[in-house]
Amino acid sequence: MHVLVTGGAGYIGSHTVLQLLQEGHQVSVLDNFSNSSPESIRRVIELSGLSVNLHKVDLLDEDLLKATLVSAKPDAVIHFAGLKAVGESVSQPLKYYRNNVTGTLNLLDAMGLAGCRTLVFSSSATVYGESVALPLVEATPRSATNPYGRTKLHIEEMLEELGASDERWSIANLRYFNPVGAHESGQIGEDPQGVPNNLMPYVAQVAIGRRDKVSVYGGDYQTPDGTGVRDYIHVEDLAAGHLAALDFLRKSVGVHVWNLGTGAGSSVLEVIDAFRRVSGQPVAYEIVDRRLGDVAESYANPEKARLELGWKAERGLEQMVEDMWRWQKQNPLGFEADHLLEPTDEEIVAYLGRE
Ligand code: WQD
Repeated sequence: MHVLVTGGAGYIGSHTVLQLLQEGHQVSVLDNFSNSSPESIRRVIELSGLSVNLHKVDLLDEDLLKATLVSAKPDAVIHFAGLKAVGESVSQPLKYYRNNVTGTLNLLDAMGLAGCRTLVFSSSATVYGESVALPLVEATPRSATNPYGRTKLHIEEMLEELGASDERWSIANLRYFNPVGAHESGQIGEDPQGVPNNLMPYVAQVAIGRRDKVSVYGGDYQTPDGTGVRDYIHVEDLAAGHLAALDFLRKSVGVHVWNLGTGAGSSVLEVIDAFRRVSGQPVAYEIVDRRLGDVAESYANPEKARLELGWKAERGLEQMVEDMWRWQKQNPLGFEADHLLEPTDEEIVAYLGRE
């Protein structure tokens, strides 16, 4: 199939593009590079030995987006592009609604114009809000506790209504738990700009010596060791879940939803311990106040994806940390060394062509 991937130069996007290429798909990538670099795609091309059509497109540029979709005429779209920092969404809600919701509306219009009605959407377990019933199943009532989560919830609801209004659409809402890790080559991985919001990249930067210590947000939760418990899932397993969903949509119309998690929870201290074992570094930490909006525990019941997609996560916490550590050691400053700031199309073409 010809698959168009929005946000394909990003963390989960680049890992998914690599697997799509390795499965024999033709891939086009749209990215505005606001939180990614063409370097990730250059390395995906190097790792796969195959080519990618890369377009610098912002989902808010409706005309360019429509022209690109009509020209590419993809068979399916995987939609990763979106802002995802919970804290930033609280301070800049309109930026999140504009980018995530309006951007998705523009994409759906462009897809319709191009006659493409197969969509895999990057949703999030954050749509479960403060749910107390664990493990989380897809039928768990949804709620939002921050503007970022509310944009994911709104987009899921928009897609449900689109599917109900036009039965030609095949849509998968994939609810990610906590994506971590990196490709085994250590060539691509998570490259947060600035101070990492998420635990694993922060711990990795402490282990590599870029940061002094981990602030553990809360040590008094009702959990085995008092620290927050999450369902960390290896980014390679997550990418494989997208290919499984794509295969399902090739044979089915309608709107579908699946959790992409392991079903296992790990605490903050367990993550730090795993990093100490794998890296051999001390990884200092200090237990501080809870972070506003955090829940004590969150982990998936992944049975629905196993039964309907034939997919389940294969990698455990140890491998997530090993692969994350390899990426961090090989790229102490992420892609920054080669980061093109707001590249022009000509710069991208020249860049991808360079040795
Ligand atoms: C994990 C645990 C923190 C940082 C968020 C979004 C979710 C998705 C993944 C985008 C919690 C603790 C963290 C730190 C800490 N994002 N922590 N010190 O909050 O579960 O999920 O990121 O798709 O939608 O909600 O992930 O990695 O921020 O936190 O103690 O410096 O680590 O309290 O228990 P979270 P996280």
